[in-house]
Formats: sequence, C-alpha cells, structure tokens
Amino acid sequence: MTTRILGIESSCDETAAAIVADGKQILSSVVASQVDIHRKYGGVVPELASREHLRQIVPVVREAAAQANIPLADVDAIGVTQGPGLVGSLLVGLTYGKVLALALNKPLIAVNHLEGHVHAVLLEAHSAGRTPKFPAMCLIVSGGHTLLYRVESAETHSGNGALRLSYSRVGGTRDDAAGEAYDKVAKMLALGYPGGPVIDKLAAHGNAAAVRFGTTKIRGNPYDFSFSGIKTAVLYYLRKRPELHAEIQERQRALSNGERSADALRALSSTTTLDLIASFQRAVVDDLVKRTLAAGEQFAVQSILASGGVAANRELREKFEEEGKRRGFEVFFPSRPLSTDNAAMIAAAAFTRFSEGERADLSLNAMPNFPLGAAPQSSGH
Ligand code: KG4
Ligand code: ZN
Repeated sequence: MTTRILGIESSCDETAAAIVADGKQILSSVVASQVDIHRKYGGVVPELASREHLRQIVPVVREAAAQANIPLADVDAIGVTQGPGLVGSLLVGLTYGKVLALALNKPLIAVNHLEGHVHAVLLEAHSAGRTPKFPAMCLIVSGGHTLLYRVESAETHSGNGALRLSYSRVGGTRDDAAGEAYDKVAKMLALGYPGGPVIDKLAAHGNAAAVRFGTTKIRGNPYDFSFSGIKTAVLYYLRKRPELHAEIQERQRALSNGERSADALRALSSTTTLDLIASFQRAVVDDLVKRTLAAGEQFAVQSILASGGVAANRELREKFEEEGKRRGFEVFFPSRPLSTDNAAMIAAAAFTRFSEGERADLSLNAMPNFPLGAAPQSSGH
C-alpha cells in the first residue's frame, strides 16, 4: 500500500506544500517564493515573511492537492516543519498543519528542516535507483545555514524501505552562512537579491585568479566555516577602487527600474568587477569543498551529500564532482528545484518517522533553534 504524505514548509521565505508517495515519488510540489517582497531590503524581513505565509498557506496547500489530484482527506499523514527557522514563519505552517490534522483526523509528524534538506538528496537518489552508501558527510549550505553532519543510516522496522538516519554534527559556520555572504556581496555590488544565482552566472565571465582572498584561518575545529572575512575583504577592495562606484550606481538604477536579468547586469559590469565576482565565488566554493572533503576523509564516510540553496551553484557542483571522484567519494546533490527550500523534502523526511509510528500531538510548538544530532567522536578533535 502506498503512503502519501502532505508536507508543509514555512520556515523562512518560501511557503511550500507537496505530496510525496512512499518518501520517494513526488506527486506535487508547490513553492510560493517571497523574493519579490524581500528584494528591496536585500534580505528576509521576518514580519513581512510571516504575513505573507498567512496569505499563501491555504492556496499553496490546495494547489499541492490539486496538482497531485488527491483530495486532502485522502492523504495518510501531514508532515510539517517544526524548526529551525523564523518563529513567526514557522508558526504559520505549523498551526495550519495542526488544524488540518485535527479537521481531517490525520496523524501529524514534526520535521526538522535540516533533516528535510538531507532527504532532498535521498528522495531523488532513491527514485533514480542510486542510493548513496552510508555513512555520508552532508553539507547543508543555504542563506541560513552552513553545516556539516556525518549521517548514518539504519533500516526501519517497517519493512517498507524507509531509512532511519542519525546525525552527528561535525562543523558549522561561526558567523555568516555561505548564502548570506553571497547575498551581502551582491548587495555591495548592486546585483540584486538573492545574490547567489546572479553571482553564479556572472562568475563564469571573470578571472577567478584575479583577486587573492587567501584562506580563512579558523582556530579549533578544522571543519567549522567563516565567511564574514571574505565579505569584509570585498568591501575593502571596493573602498580602494572609487572608479567602480559609477558602475555600481548604474546597476543600482537598473535594479530600481525592475531589471532582473543577469545578462543585463553583466553588460553593466567592468572586467574588474567580473574578476572580483569570479574570485569571490572561487574562494567560497574552494573553502566549502575543501573542508567537506577533509571531513569526509577524517570521519571515514563513503559518500558526500550537498543540499540547500547554495548547493544549486554550478561551480560548487563541478568542483565537488571532480574533487570527490579524485578522492574516492560518490557525490550526490538534489536537482536545483529541490536544493532550495521546498516541502517535498519535508514530506520525504516525515515518511520515515511516520513508518516508525512517530506522531506529534497538538501541543507541538515551533522550535526556532531545533538542532540536528550531537557532536561526533573523532580522533580529529
Ligand atoms: O535554501 P534556500 O532557498 O533558503 C534558505 O534556507 O536560506 O537558500 C537561499 C540562499 C540564498 O542566500 C541564495 O543567494 C543562495 O541560496 N543561492 C545560491 C544559488 N542559488 C541560491 N548561491 C550560490 N549559487 C547559486 N546558484
Ligand atoms: Zn533551508
């Protein structure tokens, strides 16, 4: 018998709902993005985010049911993101999930958003018949997180193929998340919001060896990250080059007039700017890949998983594939739509917990700082 789970996600600035069968077949996945609302602030404004989730949650869930052609009354369970995330945003999805569970008399499953990102990789790998070997090292890299987890798997007792995963935290960012650095650098250079996709495209047209940022030195855990230094380095670089200010103003004007295309912004960018962008991306990508693969070797894993908005980056994917292969790891990413926040990954993560009989009761509350896993034991520490 097929188990169909409705997933609901509202932890940050995406209102999303999806229906997934048996944790691996996506019957529908609807994402209402709020980028147009947050764009003029260059980042997510929490109050505006929760207000927009309120407007979107009902139509988005209805649309997920319509696209899957399944009445909500026919789903087997409801999986909802409990955290981590913005409390006001989380509460909207969580409350609606509870209301639906009560009204439709369905089991409610609480999901950790970060576990969702791990399942985004597995969901598509399973449906492609290419399940990663465990243990795996998973990099979750987005606008809100840069985290490394060692992930182990065990069969659940359900006999339906659902995998129970356990997580040990290996490292994380000490300051900015990688996506946050992309967004802040894009803001300094007037490239629009979010910054990642534009920088990704423009970086291909610059010389990545032009500006040397040097490697970020981190004391203590070698698998921690830090991106605020490189962001400040870009700021100082720009301060020392007043000749770039006119083109920044010109791009700012284009953005204010509604320009969004990366090609148009590229046409307004000098070689110096394109070189700076390419060098920034190279430094961030090299750092992410280097630390993740070093952690993979240190913690004796078989596969590398990378998920989250920044894992959609073209250069990051290429470098992981290339370097991973060289060092004997198989590397897995979600497709680009499943790299960024979505509810299919929440429904997939809920499937394992549902299979094991886990149920949340209606006293469930949002957990803005919901952690995933405890510190691993390693000779490296
Ligand atoms: O996972 P996500 O949709 O939301 C969060 O949970 O944060 O990630 C959004 C972040 C933004 O910072 C955005 O600039 C970045 O992911 N991003 C990218 C790319 N696409 C999105 N960063 C680098 N390259 C990309 N292609
Ligand atoms: Zn996320």
